[in-house]
Amino acid sequence: MNTPDSAAADDLAEILAGLRMPAKRISPKYFYDERGSQLFDEITRLPEYYLTDTELGIMQDNIDEIADLVGYQASLIEFGSGSSMKTRVLLESLHELAAYVPVDISEEHLLESAKLIQSEFPQIEIAPVVADFTKPFDLPSPRIPPKRNIVYFPGSTIGNLERDDALSLLDVMHQEAGENGALLIGVDLQKDPALIEAAYNDSAGVTAEFNLNMLRRMNNDYGADFDLDAFRHSARYDADEGRVVTRLVSLKDQVVHLGGETFTLRENEGILTEYSHKYTLEGFAAMARQSGFEVERVWTDTQRLFSVQYLLRR
Ligand code: AVJ
Repeated sequence: MNTPDSAAADDLAEILAGLRMPAKRISPKYFYDERGSQLFDEITRLPEYYLTDTELGIMQDNIDEIADLVGYQASLIEFGSGSSMKTRVLLESLHELAAYVPVDISEEHLLESAKLIQSEFPQIEIAPVVADFTKPFDLPSPRIPPKRNIVYFPGSTIGNLERDDALSLLDVMHQEAGENGALLIGVDLQKDPALIEAAYNDSAGVTAEFNLNMLRRMNNDYGADFDLDAFRHSARYDADEGRVVTRLVSLKDQVVHLGGETFTLRENEGILTEYSHKYTLEGFAAMARQSGFEVERVWTDTQRLFSVQYLLRR
């Protein structure tokens, strides 16, 4: 059984394993406690953070074509709890949806947002699934038998994953999409490094707060004793790897305690908290192809900052 307690113990074990590594790291999934989720919402409204507005604009500008490609009576399966404006654009315009299936590991968050979505779209069957979507999971059977499954993964969240993990998530999506299914995914694109770095180093300092909140969360939820004033935010674009590397950098030699262990950090040593991968259209197509997807259609904004892509199972 996966009780809340055993899940918390697994999380602590994972965090400790990351801190024991020669290059210390903590997974970005731990950003999102209540304060972290609020800070991320704030990030999406920052002038420098072009991703959210650009993706929403692409969806709005092309929704008729998206709806026609998806066709009638599809089941829309969102990886993530889905309360974004982008999801609402789809729910408003897709033709006679058989069901909307948001999938998320946080039951509380999922059911709350499913309830809100249901009240806004009373005519659509909403069938939330509590699951860790990095592994295969069972789909519900809606009253209307779906003609096809459309997996939806907005926000360039795929960018958080390193290549092997991105490939295995695409494998799960391929499986969940099923026979003649499709994937609708938001993918951020490689561009002028200055524009990318600005998005992760906003002038209001919200991204720095978001990053430092990781340490607050370690203290609050896992009993660590990080001194938040002894770390600074760092986000640098590595053009060779095509990714933003986000770290918490120690301002001095110091020790930190967590789970009965002691970790030493030297001045300027970083803890890796996030990668945000940026793709070329060719690079993403090649990776998706390895998981059995063929890019059918790509929509971008006029500046080619961001892409929304529709992929079919090969
Ligand atoms: C939610 C993973 C897409 O990488 O751009 C925003 C998270 N981190 N600012 C991203 C994030 C710092 C975001 N993703």
